[in-house]
Amino acid sequence: MNRVLVLGATSAIAQQVARVYAERGAALFLVARNEQRLSAVADDLRVRGAQVETAVADLDDAAGHEELLARAAPLQIVFLAYGALGDARRTEQSTEAAEAILRTNLSSPLSLLTRAAGRLEAQGNGCIVALSSVAGDRGRASNAVYGAAKAGLSAFLSGLRNRLSRSGVRVITVKPGLVDTPMTVHLPKNRLYSSPERVARDVVRGIDGTAEVIYTPWWWRWVMLVVLVIPERVLKGLSL
Ligand SMILES: NC(=O)c1ccc[n+]([C@@H]2O[C@H](COP(=O)([O-])OP(=O)(O)OC[C@H]3O[C@@H](n4cnc5c(N)ncnc54)[C@H](OP(=O)(O)O)[C@@H]3O)[C@@H](O)[C@H]2O)c1
Repeated sequence: MNRVLVLGATSAIAQQVARVYAERGAALFLVARNEQRLSAVADDLRVRGAQVETAVADLDDAAGHEELLARAAPLQIVFLAYGALGDARRTEQSTEAAEAILRTNLSSPLSLLTRAAGRLEAQGNGCIVALSSVAGDRGRASNAVYGAAKAGLSAFLSGLRNRLSRSGVRVITVKPGLVDTPMTVHLPKNRLYSSPERVARDVVRGIDGTAEVIYTPWWWRWVMLVVLVIPERVLKGLSL
């Protein structure tokens, strides 16, 4: 498949995935909300070999989703890459801040992917790939709202995959661990962090292959299995 819709094209991870497709000569339809940065990303990808179209959109605004997908059609690979970590402390104190995080990471992706799924189902092929997170596998004291949004997204993608399994449409859930990108720039780094290039390699390999749920790097699957069996009373004593 050589036509990729990138939702959140200025994301550091998305840019690395798009570079791989550019080097394959793919046709990219890039969507982001910052016009200037989107234009710089598009120029870079053209130089690398892609045919590029762009659209500027705040993807929190679901009213524009249908028109956006119509512009990007025909769809082949739909790569949903945007998201927001938010300020965990603010989400503890303000329901507005919490709702904003739920909107960007859950309800807006649901709106776009439901519409994209309908189009792919009607044509009988295509692939939806979405960046969820290991943060959705278990609630943590340090960012409960972001974790809840990603848990909802992962559950939605699982249901969508099962619903579309007989229609020829693939749905891939990507669960990165900690990645060194602008989203985590304010956090102290340690050996658990990976590069966006590494995550992008795993994403593209998953799309090329038969993956359904990708932990990236792979060892996060085992880390999260351990995290999942920690009893709640023990978790309370850990600063996770
Ligand atoms: N970095 C990590 O450790 C990590 C771990 C697990 C999962 N993830 C997930 O990976 C995805 C990509 O994140 P990243 O690490 O590549 O961070 P990033 O470089 O900060 O990318 C986040 C992107 O989302 C865009 N965005 C946010 N709200 C938007 C909106 N309403 N409309 C359009 N675009 C919007 C941002 O655009 P602006 O630049 O305009 O703000 C930015 O391009 C996110 O879903 C994130 O939750 C990241």
